[in-house]
Amino acid sequence: MNDSDCISFLQWALPQLRMRWAGFRKVRKQVCKRIARRLRVLGLPGPDAYRGYLSANPDEWIALDRCCRITISRFYRDQRVFDLLGKTVLPVLAKQALQRGDKCLQLWSAGCAGGEEAYSLALLWEHRVRPLCPGVGLQILATDSDSHSLDRAVAACYSPASLKDLPVAWREAAFQRRNREYCLLPAYRSAVVFGCQDLRSRMPARRFDLILCRNLVFTYFSIELQQQLLTDLQQRLRPGGALVIGAHESLPGTAAGLTRWSGAQAIFRTGGADLAP
Ligand SMILES: C[S@@+](CC[C@H](N)C(=O)[O-])C[C@H]1O[C@@H](n2cnc3c(N)ncnc32)[C@H](O)[C@@H]1O
Repeated sequence: MNDSDCISFLQWALPQLRMRWAGFRKVRKQVCKRIARRLRVLGLPGPDAYRGYLSANPDEWIALDRCCRITISRFYRDQRVFDLLGKTVLPVLAKQALQRGDKCLQLWSAGCAGGEEAYSLALLWEHRVRPLCPGVGLQILATDSDSHSLDRAVAACYSPASLKDLPVAWREAAFQRRNREYCLLPAYRSAVVFGCQDLRSRMPARRFDLILCRNLVFTYFSIELQQQLLTDLQQRLRPGGALVIGAHESLPGTAAGLTRWSGAQAIFRTGGADLAP
């Protein structure tokens, strides 16, 4: 299957999966490779035959949906966002938690890939925030629909490339070298609980102080689905809580009830408590 065949196939198929071509343009190669592999498994000659197969076998859309998961991530992705989380957002959220009598902040990494984002939060907390916020703990729920990614997350061993944005001192303190990989020490894993969930059909039945939903909903999903999931995400934020999206993403529509966290492109807060640090 050549590139232009794959592009026209994706432009036809993605809207039917409530996804959008604009999000996949740059990362289509890995999706095209997976689809080509799927065609070989099914013994089909090309994308036209695959269209017919999808029409005759509606369950195949589930397999195609799986081919469209982009699982790229890395530690401390978008350094400025993590720096701001450490410097302002998490200390403010910790102060709010203490004011309402809570001893633990609840964070959710929605679409956590191999755990890089959730563990980055745990590292940020230990190395930067905890000394500023005595008496407050941290719990992180990290969910993804891809079970292979979740297996990698639980194993917590990474290539040097996925750690390249992490402060070197943190890497040295928190990882143990095992052959060519860096494995996160158990002390940094204990705050993180992983779960398998597809955001489109299930979300946690509780509220969070901070939700990270980056490089997933607001890149790959259709605008209508973005709007629907944004409402669902907002319902899971505590008053005064914050939502982080990808550095190159924007929220659909008016995003009523959310305002930009001062100085931040990708961090939004809900109304409620006074957020002055
Ligand atoms: C590009 S990665 C982003 C990882 C991380 N949030 C980051 O920004 O580095 C997107 C992740 O979302 C997951 N994903 C895709 N569709 C999903 C869905 N419907 N529900 C939950 N997770 C999904 C993929 O498996 C993948 O691990």
